[in-house]
Amino acid sequence: MHDILQQLEAKRAAARLGGGEKRIAAQHAKGKLTARERLELLLDEGSFEEWDMCVEHRCLDFGMQANKVPGDGVVTGYGMINGRLVFVFSQDFTVFGGALSEAHAEKICKVMDQAMKVGAPVIGINDSGGARIQEGVASLGGYAEVFQRNVLASGVVPQISLIMGPCAGGAVYSPAMTDFIFMVRDSSYMFVTGPEVVKTVTHEEVTAEQLGGAATHTGRSGVADLAFDNDVEAILMTRRFFNYLPLNNRDQAPLRKGGDAAERLDPSLDTLIPDNPNQPYDMGELILKVVDDGDFFEIQPENARNIIVGFARMDGRSVGIVANNPQVLAGCLDIKSSIKAARFVRFCDAFGIPVVTFVDVPGFMPGTAQEYGGIIKHGAKLLYAYAECTVPKVTVITRKAYGGAYDVMSSKHLRGDVNFAWPNAEIAVMGAKGAVEIIFREDKGDPAKLAAREAEYKARFANPFVAGARGYIDDVIHPRETRKRICRSLAMLKDKALANPWRKHGNIPL
Ligand code: HXC
Repeated sequence: MHDILQQLEAKRAAARLGGGEKRIAAQHAKGKLTARERLELLLDEGSFEEWDMCVEHRCLDFGMQANKVPGDGVVTGYGMINGRLVFVFSQDFTVFGGALSEAHAEKICKVMDQAMKVGAPVIGINDSGGARIQEGVASLGGYAEVFQRNVLASGVVPQISLIMGPCAGGAVYSPAMTDFIFMVRDSSYMFVTGPEVVKTVTHEEVTAEQLGGAATHTGRSGVADLAFDNDVEAILMTRRFFNYLPLNNRDQAPLRKGGDAAERLDPSLDTLIPDNPNQPYDMGELILKVVDDGDFFEIQPENARNIIVGFARMDGRSVGIVANNPQVLAGCLDIKSSIKAARFVRFCDAFGIPVVTFVDVPGFMPGTAQEYGGIIKHGAKLLYAYAECTVPKVTVITRKAYGGAYDVMSSKHLRGDVNFAWPNAEIAVMGAKGAVEIIFREDKGDPAKLAAREAEYKARFANPFVAGARGYIDDVIHPRETRKRICRSLAMLKDKALANPWRKHGNIPL
């Protein structure tokens, strides 16, 4: 018995040591925490239950049988975040660069399967060179097993990926199928293959940072949702983020009432909109003034800045916020913003989180760049997402709601539950100038006449009353009472039941 206990302790010690002191020191020297240190920070103190510490790889090639580390490069199990269950895996870069073997994959699959059975989220900490090269097809098979589970878990339990090192191959494709990806600046990278292979294949010389650093993926590609300065910040923000989410698609996000009264008025909102309809204003300020305690968790702040998405609470309930941003491209919808918002709306819908939409949109972005890029198909994603969405939808038109973009942005016609407009809202097919230039083309040579037509069009359509007269707007509200009216609407909608027709799945324009 004594012997066995000694053996167990020796195995545990070896598992804890991973790839050894030297590699741990190298990890720290890069400003990175180890796989275990990360889990310690992520989970409530003392809550981690580790599984499969004794698992070893089964590879016999390339002298691998003499090179085994108990746990095989990934720490797995479950624990709590603020008292709520979560399953975790954390790849250990000190063991074969965190590369995934068949056994390593089985460990990840085990926690994913269990998370699905009990209905709890999965957080994966990725620090891995992808499929373990020495294992060949066995490691590819292992990744495919993980991918399959990512897909089956999608929309059932939330999946969050932290990218905390150089990640390649499967270590980026698995995260790509999860709901959110958070990176760390200057120490995490995501690429299908690294700079060396890129150089060989395409003769491009590119650094890891340029190819797949946090700036590239949170800004340019939109692959990642957020970037943080270091591991500690990324993990602590993940804990905060976790509080907005339900454990699964049948659960409700936790109710966290702060001290902010649901009926609070904010008179400063009455003067937020400038007199000149072409002058931008700060939609971010509006959001902070409306949500609980001015607390807004923005997602993808650097990508497609013409639309703002993120989580907040209204009277303690988690909500997803979508808002056009008049400070960037006048808030126009383009390819990237449509994709960004569509994915966000679908996440909220899958997990029962109500969507609050603030609309100030002059339309879809025109031009060849957008048309050649497929704005028709990509813009349709957002239209589709709002239309299929059955969670409570509350919409506030703060200024412009023109054309197709009026329809798209959670309009009444797409089953918006409560649609408000501020008094200065302009709801029309297009802006007055563009409209008269088309319908009164014959007056083109007569600027005075055209100006009169424009004034007439504005008086007729640049207001919320035409839509209000048809019931497309439930009420025209004072900006100061926006929070109160949204909170009341959400309380009324708390038990909303709406189902789409049965089908295997819809065919969203991809
Ligand atoms: C086995 C690997 C490995 C891998 C890294 N290592 N990647 N071992 N399989 N895939 C090992 C290295 O040999 C090294 O071992 C240690 O991990 C650290 O790696 P370094 O290269 O020294 O670190 P760094 O310079 O930081 O570079 C990290 C890296 C690079 C960018 C991840 O190692 C790399 O490019 N690796 C290969 C990436 C790749 O192409 N993977 C296959 C993906 S295919 P020692 O003993 O020297 O410390 C795939 C298929 C999935 O995943 C399907 C997708 C659809």
